[in-house]
Amino acid sequence: MEIANSLKILKEAAKQAINDAVLLGDLETLRVRYLGKKGEVTAQLKQIGSLSHEERRSFGQQVNTVKVEIQQLLDSRHNVLEAVAVQAQLENERIDITQPGRQRSSGALHPVSRTLERMQTIFDQIGFDVATGPEIEDDYHNFEALNIPADHPARAMHDTFYVDDHTVLRTHTSPVQIRYMHNNEPPIRVIAPGRVYRCDSDVTHTPMFHQLEGLAIDTNVTFADLKGVLIYFLREFFEKDLGVRFRPSYFPFTEPSAEVDIACVFCEGNGCRICKQTGWLEVLGCGMVHPEVFRHGGIDERKFTGYAFGLGVERLTMLRYGVNDLRLFFENDLAFLRQF
Ligand code: FA5
Ligand code: MG
Repeated sequence: MEIANSLKILKEAAKQAINDAVLLGDLETLRVRYLGKKGEVTAQLKQIGSLSHEERRSFGQQVNTVKVEIQQLLDSRHNVLEAVAVQAQLENERIDITQPGRQRSSGALHPVSRTLERMQTIFDQIGFDVATGPEIEDDYHNFEALNIPADHPARAMHDTFYVDDHTVLRTHTSPVQIRYMHNNEPPIRVIAPGRVYRCDSDVTHTPMFHQLEGLAIDTNVTFADLKGVLIYFLREFFEKDLGVRFRPSYFPFTEPSAEVDIACVFCEGNGCRICKQTGWLEVLGCGMVHPEVFRHGGIDERKFTGYAFGLGVERLTMLRYGVNDLRLFFENDLAFLRQF
């Protein structure tokens, strides 16, 4: 029969279309197209008017059967496509547990910080406390109390950054000596690490650098104690018997004064650009505390004596690690910093 035939053709077309569907969404479109209220199977029912009474019944059954069959086809295709989708997702999200893990890069201390820690540890072991003071300092503590009055030529040695007429970026850690004397009674054994600033820049000078101040005050402290402590420190720090020399020098706040040089590690004393052809590199200034400084610090200079020193932290770092330009420490080039 013609009508039954068209139903069969419709079913075959639907079967083909369902099997060809690749996306779950396509199946929904097909369901609407065939089984929906305005779908093609439903449309078949419209032909029922042209049929005889007996034929109607059987035709109705046939349409229903086709409906059910198409629904089954849709369901089974749905299951297949869903399984494929799950499989694809599993493939995609598969974790290869044999792959090497991602490396975590950890930070490290800056070489200058490491040197400071190392210095503090050594001084801690021989009984020095730690003190700090402000980086923005007043003229009194940075100069005046250290026996450097306003008209003193030593001010020219410092290349000072002025904040205003009475305030400076401290040019050395020595002002902490005064602050500590004001707040503590002898015996005093203290170090003061920190940043200092000078308008200065070349291979051995940077505008900001670190110093570590030392101060010891007691009855009968002598220059021999100073030499002993500094030589002990330098040998501990470098873990070897470096050439060290005490060279007479001048600081307004110590008398007598000396600067200490270390045999240049770059040229081993032969003379190079770093040591300015001298074979030596200056690492610290030191001396016996000047009576005038004791007076400013409120300590009886007839009863007590003391020594003080100021170490250049970057200089020691460059000597220890063989870095030939101080400015590298502050460029923050990671390739450079990662070497430490
Ligand atoms: C002073 O600053 C004195 N306050 C040191 C002192 C303290 C003497 C206590 C006596 C008693 P000087 O300007 O020489 O001294 O500096 C001390 C050290 O700091 C130098 O030996 C050097 O190692 C380091 N230094 C000086 N200027 C710079 C700079 N621009 N960059 C890096 N390091 C520097
Ligand atoms: Mg000097």
